[in-house]
Amino acid sequence: MLQRNEDVAERVPELASYEGRATEDPETLLELLETMEEVLREVSMVVSYANLRSSQDTRNQEYQAQAGRAEALAGADIVLKVQRPLTKVESDDGLSDVPEGAMLIGLQNPYGDPSGVEAYAKRNITAFSMEMLPRISRAQSMDVLSSQSNLTGYKAVIDGAANYGRGMPMLMTAAGRINPAKVFVMGAGVAGLQAIATARRMGAIVSATDVRMAAKEEVESLGAAFVMVEPDEGDTGQTAGGYAKEMSEDYKRRQAELVAGHIRDQDIVITTALIPGRPAPVLVNDDMVASMKLGSVIVDIAAEQGGNCTQTKPGEKHTTDNGVTILAELNLPSQLAADTSALYARNLLNFIELMVDKDEKKIAIDWEDEIIVGTCLTRDGKVVHPALVPAEGASAAPAEEADEAGGDDDTPSELGV
Ligand code: NAI
Repeated sequence: MLQRNEDVAERVPELASYEGRATEDPETLLELLETMEEVLREVSMVVSYANLRSSQDTRNQEYQAQAGRAEALAGADIVLKVQRPLTKVESDDGLSDVPEGAMLIGLQNPYGDPSGVEAYAKRNITAFSMEMLPRISRAQSMDVLSSQSNLTGYKAVIDGAANYGRGMPMLMTAAGRINPAKVFVMGAGVAGLQAIATARRMGAIVSATDVRMAAKEEVESLGAAFVMVEPDEGDTGQTAGGYAKEMSEDYKRRQAELVAGHIRDQDIVITTALIPGRPAPVLVNDDMVASMKLGSVIVDIAAEQGGNCTQTKPGEKHTTDNGVTILAELNLPSQLAADTSALYARNLLNFIELMVDKDEKKIAIDWEDEIIVGTCLTRDGKVVHPALVPAEGASAAPAEEADEAGGDDDTPSELGV
């Protein structure tokens, strides 16, 4: 396999030290190469391999002996990455290794790092941002946010349980009864639903909340109680693309009151709430943390976007004066790198197949395809994504509006819980 691979693809390391994931996985790589070998006789492709946390380490050691990063990237036409390459002004200089005019596919964090997008345009890089994929049924198999969030939700519960000094299920012993843990999941999207399912499997009593009314049925079907504020009239809490909306001030006040009453009785709180392109909404304030019991745990998986809890310290674990442990690990998917890389690689393969005409054996991108429109950030030396460039006479569309614009097909996803 290695020999075949050397024919058409080179490997480079993910430079970010916190990234354990890779864009390749043995099985998927073979398929990717089969697709590309046919098509890309003249085109070279570079896939990234993981840092040392992945279980694929042994293979990676082997690859490290291959040509260095810059040599591998020189002349690449397509570069597959997990984390985006950084510009010179940032801490690391990965972008200058990506050849001008190349196609770059990966997680680009376009709202968090807009300067990166500008830099791609300057280098004439055609960049695709996998996290901008429209939420339509045709795109489900390419949806990296879903595939990574799913395992994040699982890991959050495992971490919460590991830091909770008690058991999760109800246990009847000769020496007496142990009560089940109460787990409250805030945000019932992909990660939240997996967290609910995992906590239920571990025997906890689970409740959950969300602003999207559609989440109620999903939460209840997993055997958890749904805790929700009555929405403003006619408001479903979500955009046409299925994402949460920024809620009214009145809604937020009512939600905080409801949560305050519920949270003081919980043992483990998992917060997952995100709004694309905006900081994570605050759902757990100082008073709520103060009301929680000694020994309870908050796992804030929205920490990368600032966190859902006012006392979250992104990247740190700490215990408050009243004995509540708050976990705010960054990049949780990277801690399950073998599985998340396998899913990520599969997502990329499915995305690339969209760009390949197998009969004609060439790259054939339909620039009108809503999946391409939704993910393409830069092209022909310009920023082209509708959410990032102002339409004539208007300012750049906020994330929610851009989301509304894409996707008329909202078939609910298979969440795999
Ligand atoms: P997300 O990661 O953007 O947000 C996590 C959850 O937090 C969401 O359920 C959101 O509604 C909730 N949230 C946001 N603000 C909140 C607040 N103030 N209070 C309480 N909860 C709040 O969302 P995710 O997990 O990416 O999924 C969002 C939706 O997209 C889901 O309905 C999911 O089924 C759908 N989806 C559709 C796909 C497809 O059709 N291709 C693929 C993946 C997800």
